[in-house]
Amino acid sequence: KRVGVLISGSGTNLQALIDFTRDPMNFSAAEIVLVISNKPDVQGIVRAENAGIATKVINHKKYETREEFDEALNVSLVAAGVEIVCLAGFMRILSGKFVQKWSGKMLNVHPSLLPSFKGHDAHQQVLKSGVRISGCTVHFVAEEVDGGAILVQESVPVYHDDTEQTLSERIKEKEHKAFPKALEMVASEQVKLKPDHSIEWSF
Ligand code: GRF
Repeated sequence: KRVGVLISGSGTNLQALIDFTRDPMNFSAAEIVLVISNKPDVQGIVRAENAGIATKVINHKKYETREEFDEALNVSLVAAGVEIVCLAGFMRILSGKFVQKWSGKMLNVHPSLLPSFKGHDAHQQVLKSGVRISGCTVHFVAEEVDGGAILVQESVPVYHDDTEQTLSERIKEKEHKAFPKALEMVASEQVKLKPDHSIEWSF
């Protein structure tokens, strides 16, 4: 399956997806063919270029509405023949129309154990709440932000002296394993999103 990855920053998850799908030992059903960033000059673009993958910057600031920006994303994804979209640290909320178009074909990674701690400041919420376990979630993207059906989760301990930095580093290590695993499940059609938005597991 042809995969497009949307990023906004450092792209460590993108790197994990590239490394996994390219490793011949994994016989991956996924091939990353396009990386799009909504921000210029981010490390993730450099990672894609180094891997010889086509890149595109679609700056959201150049579009008047969310819908126009999303349409530009969609045009590029379709032109590249993309079949599965991975949101790897992509910090824009996508419009309902775009989400519906890619329903069952779009994955996101979130740095908490959903459905707890949705939103952009998950680590901060986790530290404030006092929970002793956190982790990451890879899920299908649904219209409710961070609300789609869950594919893979991994947990980590939360230490009393953790900062957002130390916690996020511990969680990212897990994301780098969970995201390729979830992508592989979808690309190889071991899992499907049913019309009722639950997952059909066929393994
Ligand atoms: C990850 O922690 C992801 O869960 C969050 O943003 C971060 C992206 O990191 N949504 P990177 O760009 O993949 O390094």
